[in-house]
Amino acid sequence: MRNIAFYFFGAAVLCVTVGMFWGIQMGIVHDHTMAPAHAHLNLVGWTTMGLFGLYYTVTPGAAETMLAKVHFALAALGVLCLVPGIAMSVSGGSEGLAIVGSLLTAGSMLIFLVTVFRNGIGRKTA
Ligand code: HEM
Repeated sequence: MRNIAFYFFGAAVLCVTVGMFWGIQMGIVHDHTMAPAHAHLNLVGWTTMGLFGLYYTVTPGAAETMLAKVHFALAALGVLCLVPGIAMSVSGGSEGLAIVGSLLTAGSMLIFLVTVFRNGIGRKTA
């Protein structure tokens, strides 16, 4: 089984790949309606998840905990709800999914806050 840093970084790279082609598509059709959804896919999906992945790479003690797995589940589910939720919302649909996604995403950041204060950053020295 791969470590949690790989899952965070793998998800981040998937997000930015989709996000970039989405940006190109918006540019081609000259319709930027989905810009807020595209921006959140890139900023929460790529930048934030990627930073989590880098953190767990340099802090292996934190990566081995159950909390790290819960963190990944919440963060991934957050992006999966937030981005379609924003797309629905800017298309005139319900805001419900965006609200769920934003709460999951904020929850994942609270877990990260606890993780950073518990484990610090970097390898523990003997
Ligand atoms: C191939 C790469 C990309 C393309 C072609 C692209 C294209 C676009 C386009 C066409 C817009 C709409 C601009 C407007 O309405 O004024 C946009 C907005 C935006 N993009 Fe991208 N983008 C790319 C990558 C990224 C990345 C990597 C990030 C962040 C890490 C990002 C963040 C944003 C943000 C913050 C906005 C503004 C959203 C808003 O005003 O609501 N984009 N992009």
